[in-house]
Amino acid sequence: MRTVYVNGDYLPEDQATVSIFDRGFLMADGVYEVTSVLGGKLIDFAGHSRRLTRSLNELDMASPVEMDELLEIHRQLVARNEIDEGLVYLQVTRGAPGDRDFVFPDPETTPSTIVLFTQAKPGLAGDVAAKKGIKVISIEDIRWGRRDIKTVQLLYPSMGKMMAKKAGADDAWLVEDGFVTEGTSNNAYIVKGGKIITRALSSDILHGITRAAVLRFAKEAQMEVEERSFTIDEAKTADEAFVTSASSFVMPVVEIDGVTLGSGKGGPLALRLREIYLDESRKMAE
Ligand code: PDD
Repeated sequence: MRTVYVNGDYLPEDQATVSIFDRGFLMADGVYEVTSVLGGKLIDFAGHSRRLTRSLNELDMASPVEMDELLEIHRQLVARNEIDEGLVYLQVTRGAPGDRDFVFPDPETTPSTIVLFTQAKPGLAGDVAAKKGIKVISIEDIRWGRRDIKTVQLLYPSMGKMMAKKAGADDAWLVEDGFVTEGTSNNAYIVKGGKIITRALSSDILHGITRAAVLRFAKEAQMEVEERSFTIDEAKTADEAFVTSASSFVMPVVEIDGVTLGSGKGGPLALRLREIYLDESRKMAE
């Protein structure tokens, strides 16, 4: 049985509870982070804790712990659950005021709720799935306008994954006004003539921690990067495509709406970036 963390306590998972009045449960009034673990170490914890702080600030939510304490909790959970490859999930909500009310509770009397747990994923960094790549469909992006805040409002992304599954694909790319915003739980890229193209940062997309690292490594490896929007039609004629996230690192996309890209296998540039990302991230893991 897993050991999880809830509001200051390490507990067996079946003894960990959160109030039915918690605003995360009633109103999706909460933010989260997913940090991957490789070789028992955290990948880019600094990036994830910075984004958590930003998400909390944007929503006027108090941080329940200091960031160095948060690092210690992540490490404790990885050690106690003997995670070699996997991830740590963290969620902070605006707490449980005791009644349902749209108005935010006073943080002095209603402390935030914080929950962390691990998920073991042996083989997460293996390259079998990456060589095969994933198939995506495109669906309309009907999410709210602050996608730069990592909130737990994940109903539409879940519906998107279900639509993909029903269509025999692995995931969906979200399209707004003809342009791809991002994947349901990842950032989206295409490759044309050796150039990596991905949407620029704004409130339209999540500012991926993996995205930031991958673009930095790509530039260091003298790859050309262009941050601009691309249409789903342009994506279908790309040489390669891929997605990035903390749980998939760099994952090639081999099919979009039934159109095969390149050879139909993971593209060479995406696979090379994956290798660089995994090598460099392991070196800096903490
Ligand atoms: N998802 N865009 C969206 C909408 C996401 O949900 C995610 C992450 C990303 C990639 O961000 P990062 O590189 O920081 O993981 C982009 C996580 C992994 C999840 O919901 O499981």
